[in-house]
Amino acid sequence: VLGPVSAIEVANKVIAPDGFPRSTVLAGGTFPGPLIQAQKGDEFLLNVTNLLNDTSMDITTSIHWHGIFQHQSNWADGTAWITQCPIQPNGSFLHRFTVPDQAGTYWYHSHVPTQYCDGLRGPLVIYDPDDPLADMYDVDDESTVIVLSDWYHEPSPLLYNSPPFTPDSSLINGLGRYPGGPASPLAVFNVTQGQRYRFRIIGASCDAWFNFTIDGHDMTIIEADGNEVEPVVVDSLAIYAGQRYSVVVTADQPVDNYWIRFVSDFPNQTFDGGLNSAILRYNGAPIQDPTTDPGPYVLPFDESALHPLQGSGVPGIPGQGNADVNINLITGLNAAGLFTVDGVSFVDPPLPVLLQILSGAQNASQLLPNGSVYELPANKTIEISFPATDLNPGGALGGPHPMHLHGHAFDVVRVAGNSTYNYINPVRRDTVSIGSQAQNDNVTIRFSTNNPGPWFFHCHIDWHLHR
Ligand code: C2O
Repeated sequence: VLGPVSAIEVANKVIAPDGFPRSTVLAGGTFPGPLIQAQKGDEFLLNVTNLLNDTSMDITTSIHWHGIFQHQSNWADGTAWITQCPIQPNGSFLHRFTVPDQAGTYWYHSHVPTQYCDGLRGPLVIYDPDDPLADMYDVDDESTVIVLSDWYHEPSPLLYNSPPFTPDSSLINGLGRYPGGPASPLAVFNVTQGQRYRFRIIGASCDAWFNFTIDGHDMTIIEADGNEVEPVVVDSLAIYAGQRYSVVVTADQPVDNYWIRFVSDFPNQTFDGGLNSAILRYNGAPIQDPTTDPGPYVLPFDESALHPLQGSGVPGIPGQGNADVNINLITGLNAAGLFTVDGVSFVDPPLPVLLQILSGAQNASQLLPNGSVYELPANKTIEISFPATDLNPGGALGGPHPMHLHGHAFDVVRVAGNSTYNYINPVRRDTVSIGSQAQNDNVTIRFSTNNPGPWFFHCHIDWHLHR
């Protein structure tokens, strides 16, 4: 566990989280990277040193603190080619920022193309000493962090050149198994009967999204992407790359072992009593695999049922298209097989965007002439809609795409799977799935331009960011 003042070394290491050894890119020598814990209001001083030398993967790096607003510290956002140059081998970068108004569940990951698929991803939790949720739910323990990830046996640059990108395994906290592989250890979460737990679940995926369930147990959702929500009880949770949830789980079942299932959208990543699973173990239960049945799955997850705990606060005049700036963004794929937004695929600029601005670039077309930069006026309300586009029925053009905005959280006034607009109390978050054309999804978000700087806005499927 690291604190807000820490030295983080990024280095190559051979590890075998699912029993298959491979060279990786790790922060702090582990997968996932060490938990960074801080308190609301802390000043962060995170010095990242690059010790990479395995040229089968990228040997430059950068670390982004996903979900942290970086108000007045845009330069510390950690995005290679947007806010900084990638850190060269033997170089380092000191991030300095404060987090006066955020608490909850976040994560960090490499923001050099596809590098977090090679390992560089870890949890970041900011505690609020006066957390209203702690009183509301009276949890006995809130220390559990559950990092969900897909895992690949090949280095990402190799995979990148040979789509489709099928993961070899799915891991919880760096433990799991792959089809046909050895019976590697699974993650075990120990609970005491009668106690209540806050589980922080992080979708630290490169691509896959997961359906997360615990046999025989409900989960009460209380946080989405660092934003407190009114309690919603579910028995399954859909979590996309980049998203986080906190749930309260009460250990109210007989003392036993229970399967935790996290089935991904990849057909080779199913549950089979070892694959895509972890164990919830009551103290006093025998040390053995669970034999529990799934479900009962009577309380499905519905994103439109998530509402902020405090007030509404959707900026601007309610109503579709009534913001100061209204934008439609169409996702697509070009002839070269690169993903596009409004027909344009992002390319790294010759100099990081922030450095160009600081050296006098005046407008978007000077920054990235191909049209990847959207210039937004300060202190206005922005509404963005994403009409989902599919190549083939049911196959949402490599999606569903989880879109993530840096530097801000947004209100999801129209979620995937529900055509109704909600300008009163929609969920506020920083990463949202834009769904599929087959469902007629047209996900719409609103936010205020209250945090000046160049901010990345991208699909969090790491292959799509680059591709
Ligand atoms: Cu999780 Cu652009 O980041």
